[in-house]
Amino acid sequence: MKRVFSGVKPTGHLTLGNYLGAMRRWVAVDQHQADALFSVVDLHALTVEHDPARVRRLSRQAATLLLAVGLDPERCTVFVQSHVDEHARLSYLLECVATDGEMRRMIQYKEKAVRERARGGSVRLSLLTYPVLMAADILAYGTEEVPVGEDQAQHVELARDVAVRFNQRYGHTFVVPRATSPGMAARVMNLQEPTSKMGKSDDVGPGIVYLLDEPDVVRKKVMRAVTDSGRDVVYDRAGRPGVANLLEILAACTGGNPEALSGVYESYGALKKDTAEAVVEVLRPVQQRHKELCADPGYVEGVLRDGADRARAMARPTVDAAYRAIGLLPAPSDTRAGAGAVVNAAR
Ligand code: TYM
Repeated sequence: MKRVFSGVKPTGHLTLGNYLGAMRRWVAVDQHQADALFSVVDLHALTVEHDPARVRRLSRQAATLLLAVGLDPERCTVFVQSHVDEHARLSYLLECVATDGEMRRMIQYKEKAVRERARGGSVRLSLLTYPVLMAADILAYGTEEVPVGEDQAQHVELARDVAVRFNQRYGHTFVVPRATSPGMAARVMNLQEPTSKMGKSDDVGPGIVYLLDEPDVVRKKVMRAVTDSGRDVVYDRAGRPGVANLLEILAACTGGNPEALSGVYESYGALKKDTAEAVVEVLRPVQQRHKELCADPGYVEGVLRDGADRARAMARPTVDAAYRAIGLLPAPSDTRAGAGAVVNAAR
């Protein structure tokens, strides 16, 4: 069975973009067809100004939402990144393989560094090295496929480059992963700024639909979406980004096709109304299940404990093998080293 890994970072409340671009596919496809791991990648939330209590709250909420959208712990592994030391252990080794130039070329680094400076803050070193930690998340598990939205493609490409380079220099250690992206809704845009991604850490709240928004809040946000001064409903991503975004959201929620749907509507108002209702219907069961899970925090904790145990056992042999391959002496008391070699050789 192929190995799949993906994650969400608890820097804000999860959005419709996270759901349509990534999570929905994890539930519908990946957990059934692969040996899949899904992680709340909390270490990544420390790369920008953060409030410790908020990160803890959002991590718990993200884990609960992963289960609420339908990930089944009997079918896949759900865990919190910081509970498995292997991510940070491997990240350092990969920093010794990736280059400074590669990090500085990352689009998200450039955008976020500008934003942090504009807020008067300093740019954390971890924001620069973030893609290496992400590569470690992926490579530690022998991951073949990484189901992500379009915005993460460059980071997965870096993980590929680093894996290939490590294997060439130090001997075959890592599986070379590839990104998979949904045909539809790979990039859901902000409803108020339809040329920017709907990102959970952004400031433009009214343009972001959160998974836990009440139905009336969703309706209000969608009805107020920025379109343009035209009247006819045409699917044109470059020329009419606001309308195209609504058509794509509607298509993703109803299983339709944005081009075909554009022919059905004669006004923006009707398109917005149907899009709002479609989103409300998609979110309804998620919110219901979230409420049930919140009433049973012991269950969520148990899932995360088992998930971390499983993830650790999967990652350790590969990370141990990387430590040896790169030239580090096994610790004399470390019985893991031998075990790792055997498991890794068998892969
Ligand atoms: P994050 O937390 O920003 O987003 C989680 C997933 O949601 C997708 N996504 C979107 N898809 C479509 N439209 C949008 N507006 C939208 N916003 C977010 C993202 O592409 C992603 O798939 N660096 C990652 C987290 C990460 C990770 C990993 C992912 C860390 N390590 C290893 C995969 C494998 C991130 O910030 O995702």
